[in-house]
Amino acid sequence: MSSLTQSSAWLDLQAHQSVMAQQHLRELFQQDPQRFEKFSLHFNTILMDCAKQPINQETVNLLLALAHQQKLKDWIVRMFAGEKINSTEQRAALHTALRGDQPIMVDGLDVMPDVKRVLKQMERFSVAIQTGERRGYTGKKFTDIVNIGIGGSDLGPVMVTEALKPYWLNGIVPHFISNVDGAQLAGVLHQLDPATTLFVIASKTFSTQETLTNAHSAREWFLSQGGNEKDVARHFVAVSTNRSAVEKFGIDTDNMFEFWDWVGGRYSLWSAIGLPIALTVGMDHFYSLLTGARAMDQHFATAPFEKNLPVMLGLIGIWHINFFGTTSHAVLPYDQSLHRFSAYLQQLEMESNGKRITRGGEVVDYSTGTIVWGEPGTNGQHAFYQLLHQGTQTISADFLAPCQSHYPMGDHHHLLLANFFAQTEALMAGKNEQEVRAELELQGMSAESVAQLLPHKIFPGNRPTTSILFKKLDPQTLGSLIALYEHKVFVQSVIWNINPFDQWGVELGKQLAGRILTELEPVGSATAHDTSTNGLINYFKINQ
Ligand code: F6P
Repeated sequence: MSSLTQSSAWLDLQAHQSVMAQQHLRELFQQDPQRFEKFSLHFNTILMDCAKQPINQETVNLLLALAHQQKLKDWIVRMFAGEKINSTEQRAALHTALRGDQPIMVDGLDVMPDVKRVLKQMERFSVAIQTGERRGYTGKKFTDIVNIGIGGSDLGPVMVTEALKPYWLNGIVPHFISNVDGAQLAGVLHQLDPATTLFVIASKTFSTQETLTNAHSAREWFLSQGGNEKDVARHFVAVSTNRSAVEKFGIDTDNMFEFWDWVGGRYSLWSAIGLPIALTVGMDHFYSLLTGARAMDQHFATAPFEKNLPVMLGLIGIWHINFFGTTSHAVLPYDQSLHRFSAYLQQLEMESNGKRITRGGEVVDYSTGTIVWGEPGTNGQHAFYQLLHQGTQTISADFLAPCQSHYPMGDHHHLLLANFFAQTEALMAGKNEQEVRAELELQGMSAESVAQLLPHKIFPGNRPTTSILFKKLDPQTLGSLIALYEHKVFVQSVIWNINPFDQWGVELGKQLAGRILTELEPVGSATAHDTSTNGLINYFKINQ
């Protein structure tokens, strides 16, 4: 048994869970009319309501005791101070410096001058593209930006540019290529004119197979469609920490935007990895995004834990995963602009906290990262909500929605929000036997039909949700929301005593793919693997 699961804070929470599990959320609301006031947290224009969670004041106190026991405050200080808390890679995790305004030392050097320098470089470059000061090889203005990157070099920029569509500048359209499946690149390139297309090759390591393959193919397309070798420098820029690999690829390092090893891939949208965001919405909105994140950083670092949004969001997740045994968490934005938010969070949460080894090298004896997924409402309602309401497993969910729409149109936004409120209420309260019976009898149904239909129409309710409402999805609010989730992930990693900033689990598949690539030529047959893998490779070789 680990010291965590034997600790008094943990054991107290276990005992408390057996009491709370006896109470339906409906009862908690009946017992305490002040639940909304007690369990709602505020930050700027963001309201986070945890009242529909299976918690009372004692739960909060016990979760806070766990956070104190795990020295959460110290870890927050250590992260912000630039300590090398990514211990398996001996690196700091300083995404907060990317949006910071105070000196922060790494290896005895203040990183802020470099951060500001690259932001200025991004600003100059995006203004030059937007104004037409920098043009394509025929002298036309750039109209299309193609970001080629994967994982953290794709998901953040895609999610943010989609979320900020109302802020897109006229005349520039972003495209994102991540998958090594040629279908994606071909699908984008056939719409484009090489003379007006700018490629941003985004890769922290500049060694990721998918990105380099797509980048080489994009360059071939550019050259085959009228561009010359000498024009490549004008049409291809790189974002990376790896200067020599960028040079080797053939991109002049004058056209390189730098970031640093203390920026994790999935925490990098605030760095030059955000260049496609700045090119699409303008640097002023990119700065607002940073401002929103910085405000959340300050809140996380200074607010008392019981009023601290990332701390409470993280601890409520711990309550579900480790004490109620949930394994799945849905993120359900009632905002079409956030349609890539869950995909972005999948990497943030699952690559960060999908770990089974503690910081000290022990195998954990408790659950860690959960499965994160989701789709925008109301689409999800017509797809998977059936299982949320009446399935056999409890799935926790975050519901997010803006009070104001960027697209006022008839009563669309009221309908959208009515569904948001209705779903969270229905998940919490459900509909019991008595209510269903009364409803069916009122419809004049026979006793036999009532008896037959009754069990199918019961909603157990007691399904936990957190509602996150915000005034409007502007760049600043979006920055705060993203930072909220980044810090939530950190809070959970501290409780679990794992390193959220490495990702060794993605290596094995990469290594094997590299070996298998050489075996896919039509000659000979594969024999070096298990019989299943050999069989699959050989079937492919015959049929390719
Ligand atoms: O999937 C593994 C990973 O290393 C991610 O952590 C990272 O975001 C992604 O690959 C892309 O890496 P790079 O930016 O170095 O191309």
